Amino acid sequence: VISNPNDQIPPATLQEVEAGVDVCRRCELWRGATQGVAGAGPASARLMFVGEQPGDQEDLTGQPFIGPAGKVLDRALESAGVPRAETYVTNGVKHFRHELRGKRRIHQTPAATHVSACRWWLDAERRIIRPRVIVALGGTAALAVFGKTVPIARSRGQAFQLEDQAQGVVTYHPSFLLRIQEPEAKASTFAAFVADLSFAWSLVG
Ligand code: URA
Repeated sequence: VISNPNDQIPPATLQEVEAGVDVCRRCELWRGATQGVAGAGPASARLMFVGEQPGDQEDLTGQPFIGPAGKVLDRALESAGVPRAETYVTNGVKHFRHELRGKRRIHQTPAATHVSACRWWLDAERRIIRPRVIVALGGTAALAVFGKTVPIARSRGQAFQLEDQAQGVVTYHPSFLLRIQEPEAKASTFAAFVADLSFAWSLVG
């Protein structure tokens, strides 16, 4: 239900995206969240990362990818030689979907309806930034970026042409790497993740 007149006009700047995301009522997720979390990074960025949704710490601070998953992303970017400050980092869904268990806030994967409702903002970010390359981190991000389900393990390591002239790359979500227990699998998946980030950076040119 769209009830807030402040988010009806397509935003023309990243400042407008940020302000609009925070008052967004395009789906119900704002009710349980502290704030909307827009992307971060310069409008001149040629590489855009899209994650799933803000996590606990992102919800509290308003900044994308600063919690545990963000630390993994930072480490991988450093290994791949990609300066995060030159990239734009955002999420397919801008409010934190979770359930309460006692005082703990447990992550819930956003539904396809949330991704669709929030595409308004991702499309605005894409229009404003016009990145050369968009990297979708995990399945929800791939759904947001490509508009359809993309199998990550089979689709990573290659570039897809997107309608807005950008090239799209899919790779793992950093939280997936955090959940792998077996040390060798963890190391090899991290290496593959780094390789995908290097590949995406090489496409930026
Ligand atoms: N996971 C995401 O997908 N995005 C964030 O911003 C943080 C964690």
